[in-house]
Amino acid sequence: MTLFHLIAGWIGYLLICLLGLILIAFLCFCLYIKYIHLKYDHIPGPPRDSFIFGHSPTLLREMSNDRFVHDKFLEWAETYGPVYRINGMHVVVLCVTCPETTKEVLMSPKYPKDSLVYKRLFNLFGQRFFGNGLITAQNHDEWYKQRRIMDPAFSSLYLRGQMGVFNERAEKLMDKLADMADTNTAANMHHLFNCVTLDVITKVAFGVELDLLNKSDSPFPNAIEMCLKGMVHYLRDSTFQLYPKNKKFINEVKKSCQLLRSTGRQWINERKMAVQNGEDVPKDILTQILKTADKEENIANDDEELMLDNFVTFFIAGTCTCGCISRPTFKLSSSLFDIMGKSKEISQDLRKKLLYPTAPGTSRFIPNDIVINGIPIPAGVSCVFSSYVCGRLDKFFEDPLKFDPERFHPDAAKPYYCYYPFALGPRSCLGQTFAQMEAKVVMAKLLQRFDFSLLPGQSFDVLDTGTLRPKSGVVCNIRHRGQTPAA
Ligand code: HEM
Repeated sequence: MTLFHLIAGWIGYLLICLLGLILIAFLCFCLYIKYIHLKYDHIPGPPRDSFIFGHSPTLLREMSNDRFVHDKFLEWAETYGPVYRINGMHVVVLCVTCPETTKEVLMSPKYPKDSLVYKRLFNLFGQRFFGNGLITAQNHDEWYKQRRIMDPAFSSLYLRGQMGVFNERAEKLMDKLADMADTNTAANMHHLFNCVTLDVITKVAFGVELDLLNKSDSPFPNAIEMCLKGMVHYLRDSTFQLYPKNKKFINEVKKSCQLLRSTGRQWINERKMAVQNGEDVPKDILTQILKTADKEENIANDDEELMLDNFVTFFIAGTCTCGCISRPTFKLSSSLFDIMGKSKEISQDLRKKLLYPTAPGTSRFIPNDIVINGIPIPAGVSCVFSSYVCGRLDKFFEDPLKFDPERFHPDAAKPYYCYYPFALGPRSCLGQTFAQMEAKVVMAKLLQRFDFSLLPGQSFDVLDTGTLRPKSGVVCNIRHRGQTPAA
């Protein structure tokens, strides 16, 4: 009995000590948050929802109400100006629309990609995802080595040689649309563009035919969508994994991620065998990915994982073009503008994705003190640069919500560091030329051959899956050009 009391006494004592330690740790953390507030509160910003969680409750509320978080950023940019502060516990993020700072930060390798976002994307819910691939690599030298190796597969010269593939896949889409027009079947344009862009990237990048337009049972479109949706929850809500109700979704995301990586392993091995057997292989992205391994014959585990990181990066980034074709199609199908398939105007029209940039923004870490718009900013913050927000500010674009491709007429004044759908500087999109060629080929054929009318219920609402997509799918009735609409 005495022994029992003694043990119970010790346990009680230990528990009190433990509680005391937790309390002290919590107080220290609160003091640290206070110190951060004192350090950065001279920067304008909306009032915090709470001392500890800062603005996170507002942002989480926006997301759970199915609103688009960059719309909140826009509202705050209009209220608080070219640089404003968002707090979340001890972390401070600045939203910047000041063109001079955008230029200074994005154009310089001095400011690495922000680890809050990019380091986190190494995994998705514990399953390796983008790893240290091109989009997420933060160490400049590691990134630069990969980028140099990949560059040749994205040169204009190489891509011009791939024009046949762009053309052939676009023709398959036209055949499909012609069938739909003949049978008066409604077309989900976003889904169809998704299939084409995936078909193009797998053929041009990896030499693999998927033919998704005609095979509806492929697991890849769904796997990519799951990864993108998972990415948004994983990045923006660190409590998401804690709720049992999300377990099923998280497992599906992890399985999708595994599918992409195991497919990458298989395709890379097949290509490696082809190279070893002396076969004639294309100088495509897969061949370049193989070169990122130090020794191509006996590839170490780390190198293999890095190759898979880049495989997943290209597989997913390659479908970005889809969002950028869907938007103009929406506008055209709402009969607001008729561009008759003229190439120069298609370019202008594609740039109109200004209002709905597929990738809404990027972010960088600021390791040294800087001054933004006259406000001194102490080192240690992350800066978000949102092309979506800039494209909607009337100080940069007159009547910004107006559909006006003339803004991008070659003779019009160039936007000064406030328009960057492909990001800017050394970490800008490697696939920009690829995406523009692909989009132009598809759009030109589409507009020369078909007229569209949107079905009722279609909206401009955005589905935020990390990259922006039209929520309602751009479902259209299609007619051969010149054909009168059915009554
Ligand atoms: C319209 C289509 C596209 C848009 C709007 C777009 C936009 C972007 C943006 C904004 C970034 C910077 C991302 C960041 O800072 O987090 C980026 C990076 C990247 N994109 Fe794209 N992209 C498109 C298509 C593509 C395609 C088709 C590919 C490949 C085939 C591609 C490959 C990449 C890669 C590899 C990077 C990382 C570059 C680096 O850090 O070195 N993108 N893209």
